[in-house]
Amino acid sequence: MKPLHLCIIKNDRSMDLKNSTILITGGTSGIGLELVKQLTRQGANIIVTGRNLDALNATKKQFPKVHTFQSDVSKPQDIEQLFKDVTYQFPQLNILINNAGQMRLIDLQDTSLDLEDINREVATNLSGTIQMVHQFLPHLLTKKSAAIVNVSSGIAFMSYSPAPIYSATKAAVHAYTLALRLQLEDTNVKVFEMIPPGVKTNLQNDWIQQPNPRMMMEVDKMVAVAIQGLIKDKKDLQPFRIGIIRMATRLVPHILLNFGHREFKKIKKLNKQQQ
Ligand SMILES: NC(=O)c1ccc[n+]([C@@H]2O[C@H](COP(=O)([O-])OP(=O)(O)OC[C@H]3O[C@@H](n4cnc5c(N)ncnc54)[C@H](OP(=O)(O)O)[C@@H]3O)[C@@H](O)[C@H]2O)c1
Repeated sequence: MKPLHLCIIKNDRSMDLKNSTILITGGTSGIGLELVKQLTRQGANIIVTGRNLDALNATKKQFPKVHTFQSDVSKPQDIEQLFKDVTYQFPQLNILINNAGQMRLIDLQDTSLDLEDINREVATNLSGTIQMVHQFLPHLLTKKSAAIVNVSSGIAFMSYSPAPIYSATKAAVHAYTLALRLQLEDTNVKVFEMIPPGVKTNLQNDWIQQPNPRMMMEVDKMVAVAIQGLIKDKKDLQPFRIGIIRMATRLVPHILLNFGHREFKKIKKLNKQQQ
């Protein structure tokens, strides 16, 4: 009888994705779009956001059952409007996935970026995540079973010098998510952190030097791991290689930092050649 009992407890704890309504920020490309694909297969009701209307329309064309909203997570007034529209039309909303993100190569000695521009990743990756949670949490707390998934990165555990602002935002998203999980531990809202390694998406499309494709994970595999983690109620939705990276950042932190910094030196040289 004991194994059966354990099995029932596990099922009670895992997310019922089929009967969930899920809001995914940045659901028109890469990891977000793949989440749309695989969560649709699970039978979930999906709502996606993004800034670009053509990309939202293309997503709707590809997945006609998906609901799209043009909304920029870096703009608090967009978040307020999104909350009003989504909770009015979909009061059953019970899962929020904070996926929208940007990653730029930035030379901190580059004076051409003004003060607002230097902060762009902070506004999207970090403030956007915090403000979305703040806006939607009271609603999620009214649901019998709810979840928040924040997307951080392997870079949260090892600063990547070519993308210093991005690195700062992802370390902060990680820290914020740990605190959020603790504060919500006695509620019906579970908190997950999706921690991708390098993944083949459009995130680095405009980089002067493209990442080594052999180091990048296929997006369908990353998202499959994340969905399995959600179903199995794992706090960290991460592939095996992130476990290795996290261990290496504790054992040999300087090797990883220097590996990333060699990329920065190459990129700086390429930029100089192009000027
Ligand atoms: N790919 C990787 O190697 C990797 C690794 C670790 C973590 N991640 C994280 O995974 C998440 C998804 O990235 P991805 O790789 O799938 O990138 P992607 O292919 O570039 O997709 C990014 C998505 O976010 C949306 N977006 C960007 N800025 C936004 C804003 N201000 N408001 C609303 N939507 C916005 C984009 O649509 P619009 O441009 O139309 O708004 C797009 O739908 C990000 O948080 C990223 O940091 C990615």
